[in-house]
Amino acid sequence: MSKVILEVKDLTTKYITRFREDVYAVDHVSFKVEEGKSLGIAGESGCGKSTLALSLMGYYFPPLHYTSGEIIIDGRTITNMAPDDVRKSILGKEIAYIPQAAMNALNPTRRIINLIEDVVRAHDPTAKKQEIYQMARESFEVLGLPAEVLQKYPVELSGGMKQRTVIAISVILGPKVLIADEPSSALDVTSQKMVIKMLRNLMEMGYIKAMIFITHELPLLYNVTDEIMVMYAGQLVELASADHAVFDPLHPYSKGLMGSIIVPEAGLRDVKLTAIPGVPPNLKKPPAGCRFAERCKYARLECNVSPPLRTPGHGRTYRCILSEEELRGIYEHER
Ligand SMILES: Nc1ncnc2c1ncn2[C@@H]1O[C@H](COP(=O)(O)OP(=O)(O)OP(=O)(O)O)[C@@H](O)[C@H]1O
Ligand SMILES: [Mg+2]
Repeated sequence: MSKVILEVKDLTTKYITRFREDVYAVDHVSFKVEEGKSLGIAGESGCGKSTLALSLMGYYFPPLHYTSGEIIIDGRTITNMAPDDVRKSILGKEIAYIPQAAMNALNPTRRIINLIEDVVRAHDPTAKKQEIYQMARESFEVLGLPAEVLQKYPVELSGGMKQRTVIAISVILGPKVLIADEPSSALDVTSQKMVIKMLRNLMEMGYIKAMIFITHELPLLYNVTDEIMVMYAGQLVELASADHAVFDPLHPYSKGLMGSIIVPEAGLRDVKLTAIPGVPPNLKKPPAGCRFAERCKYARLECNVSPPLRTPGHGRTYRCILSEEELRGIYEHER
């Protein structure tokens, strides 16, 4: 087994709304990412993908609150560190997060080089302008971006170039883990390919040691990541190799999700298209038992109690009252 770069143990975080209601958006989530590997996160809108990504930074501010669990990056536990220490020595340096729609949030009044200066100086206030420029230039060159971009304003860049610039800025301090939240969703196919190529290069060149990639587009997840985690209503419901998750899902929700793939990518073309009827539960009052039970066509009385996390081998995990044999029997019967 390779070195574990990111380990998350039983992480639970919640939002506390203005009306003092708790929204349990990340509920007892555990997983590991090894060196050189990328993990994809899939699940319907609102299932907690972005909240999990945000929670992994170990830096919490209202309305997001840390409830329990551990986050360990390259052997260093960050969940017991003072918030100020996390901000100074972890964010951007150990783990970096590219938020959803980050490319549209770049300060339009600052040139790219000034944005990079802000990032570098937040960690090292004494850094010299010339040194930062040199570092940014080298970094852009390695990542295949023209140095002229450094002098431009965000509005002067195309969508694809803006997103690649955002990625370059987010790895400027050399983080071990990069989390990219829907980095290609708003882009045309050509720009999307270039963004994906850049993320792959970052891993291959060892610029980053591990990656978490979030997207609605399952074929993309399959092509880019080694493992896929499927989330449902704030919980991990299945974690498996990309091959197993897409072509041999065990959890009924993963099965339904894979069956709703729309993009006819090579190899994924034979998957039968079906939609999952119903909507996810309200995370303010999630059911005590299986959160998917209400929409699950195989649900039974026992699903009223919280289902166990099962580990049927091949490094996979899924959360269901039914054993692998029972599920396979049901799926076989349906074919
Ligand atoms: N600031 C907030 N305050 C309260 N609840 C929030 C807040 N942000 C998100 N939520 C809730 O937390 C849950 C998870 O949201 P999150 O944005 O993490 O989902 P997601 O899987 O990233 O969705 P999408 O695919 O649409 O990006 C949702 O029920 C959402 O309504
Ligand atoms: Mg999101």
